[in-house]
Amino acid sequence: MRARLAKVLIMKKLTLGKILQSQGFGTKKSCHYMVLDGLVEVDGGLVDDVHAEFDPMEQGGLKFKVDGAAWIYHEYVYVALNKPAGVECSRRPKHHRGVLSLLPDQFTERDVQPVGRLDHDTTGLLLLSDDGNFIHAQSHPKRHVPKTYVATTQDPVTPELVAQLSAGVKLTDEPDPLAAQARQLSSHEIEITLDMGKYHQVKRMLTAAGHHCMALRRSAIGGLTVEALGLEEGGWTYLTPEQLGLLVAA
Ligand code: URA
Repeated sequence: MRARLAKVLIMKKLTLGKILQSQGFGTKKSCHYMVLDGLVEVDGGLVDDVHAEFDPMEQGGLKFKVDGAAWIYHEYVYVALNKPAGVECSRRPKHHRGVLSLLPDQFTERDVQPVGRLDHDTTGLLLLSDDGNFIHAQSHPKRHVPKTYVATTQDPVTPELVAQLSAGVKLTDEPDPLAAQARQLSSHEIEITLDMGKYHQVKRMLTAAGHHCMALRRSAIGGLTVEALGLEEGGWTYLTPEQLGLLVAA
């Protein structure tokens, strides 16, 4: 963190071509030509001087437009997406469209990746970033940031199901039973909070408890909820430092 802060403080002025390249707009050459061709505006004014330099961190992030579209410079991208069903989180999707197709192409170019994965049919909160340290820290098994899911079950939710999940159920490839916080939300909906993320964990825990999961939605990671973010399915937003601060163990 200290190294990162130092990097920010000594951030030099850069040409617009370099700034565009860092933000995923293409190669050095193509970004150079975007400027030369008059496609780039800064603070409301056209800049076609390829030698003009700007502080990318100016006022919390340089505001610029490319071909009329507004952007703000981000050293790293931290994004929350309300993932729809039928979308794969893998980098090379095989059977469904990839999650990065829901975000600007520039994010793929700058190697933004999902932080962990949701199944193709699971909806809800997914974080994405190009900050390797953040991805590593968030994905670390010891971090225990709780993840909350809402599962729709085929059969009615019973007090026994809630008790079973809270006490722990045995999954075939796990040495010990896995427990979760669970509470009934409605006749066929149960909220399940995990502080780890084994493969298909929610669905497998429900199966182990004799229930079938018909639909699964991740509603929260730590204290960050889809509801508070106000994201429609398929919608995304940059996360503020305050929102990033909610991604902690309870
Ligand atoms: N548990 C599952 O079974 N699937 C997910 O996508 C996430 C958690």
